[in-house]
Amino acid sequence: MITKEQLIPKKYLEMSESAIKESIFIKKEEFGDSLTILAHHYQKDEIIPFADAVGDSLELAKIAQGNKKAKHIIFCGVHFMAETADMLTRSYQKVYLPDALAGCSMADMATRRQLEIGWEKLSSQFSKPIIPITYINSTAEVKAFVGEHGGVIVTSSNAETILKRILSQNYPVLFLPDQHLGRNTSYHLGVELEEMAVWNPRKEQLLNYDESAKLKVVLWQGRCCVHQQYSVKQIEELREKIPNLKVIVHPECPLEVVLASDLYGSTKKIVDEVANSPQGTYWAIGTDNNLVNRIIHNFPNHNIISINSSAFSCITMNRIHLAHLLWTLDEIQLGKDTQRIRVDPRTTTSALKALDRMFTFG
Ligand code: 13P
Ligand code: SF4
Repeated sequence: MITKEQLIPKKYLEMSESAIKESIFIKKEEFGDSLTILAHHYQKDEIIPFADAVGDSLELAKIAQGNKKAKHIIFCGVHFMAETADMLTRSYQKVYLPDALAGCSMADMATRRQLEIGWEKLSSQFSKPIIPITYINSTAEVKAFVGEHGGVIVTSSNAETILKRILSQNYPVLFLPDQHLGRNTSYHLGVELEEMAVWNPRKEQLLNYDESAKLKVVLWQGRCCVHQQYSVKQIEELREKIPNLKVIVHPECPLEVVLASDLYGSTKKIVDEVANSPQGTYWAIGTDNNLVNRIIHNFPNHNIISINSSAFSCITMNRIHLAHLLWTLDEIQLGKDTQRIRVDPRTTTSALKALDRMFTFG
């Protein structure tokens, strides 16, 4: 539950943008190396200039883990990212999320309790042990369950490498919570659609399950609402208008959208592909429009459009404004833990097993 103390005081919302920027700049200077600000690619433009690092989930997790100097790590992203950073850092380091309401609706589609129930039911249907694989976009509790059951965490950057390794061991996999990342990655590794089924955690049953099929991958019925706004029709219409168009999408998009594209990958891969393409290349991108618009701005000599320019951006990522950043810095200076994200030691120990496997396998 969000307490009153975790809601931003009115005075910050009444400040001018220039006054907020100036204060953030001064406070960052005062903290020096003892504080670092990490920002995910989907953050608002106003946050980016104040970030010490901007990246995808894997890059930011590694940066948090590698930074031994900063006592304070402000994570401008969503809740699961701050939780992961807390688990990967040391006891003298504190991680903060500037707005307590910045969650990830996809991560919230799988609770530990639902996973325990699903696990028990699925285990009784398979003769071999099931390997749980969770997308990093999941709660610390879900990561802990996965760690306790011999499983591993993946991100959109390393899902293919890790899933390939697990599938080669010939064990069935439960992939959660994003069915699309799971389906796209499995399909590209040669798993047939008939070898996958969807687990509905509310009905507690497998959907489209053919008894005779040999299931290799069970996909949790979760999804990211942002990435459901890109369609094959939009891509086809753009291709008709723009010859030589290159299309790249995030793997949280449905399989048919990924198949209609030329490339797919993490937010880092999307940025890198555009950066490494010749000037003048025509690109259509299917991911959060905060990032797409920044890429358009940063590469003025390329011809870049969003596959759906009117798609809404991630609502929770967008909760973080400059005012939240200043408020967080103020609270830290006052010695208060208002925006701190803490994962308990028991959960951390279990989840770290799955995170360690990710770093080893990926
Ligand atoms: P990346 O790891 O590709 O940045 O994706 C994170 C995310 O939440 C996309 O919706
Ligand atoms: Fe979660 Fe989707 Fe937002 Fe990424 S874009 S943080 S998956 S809701």
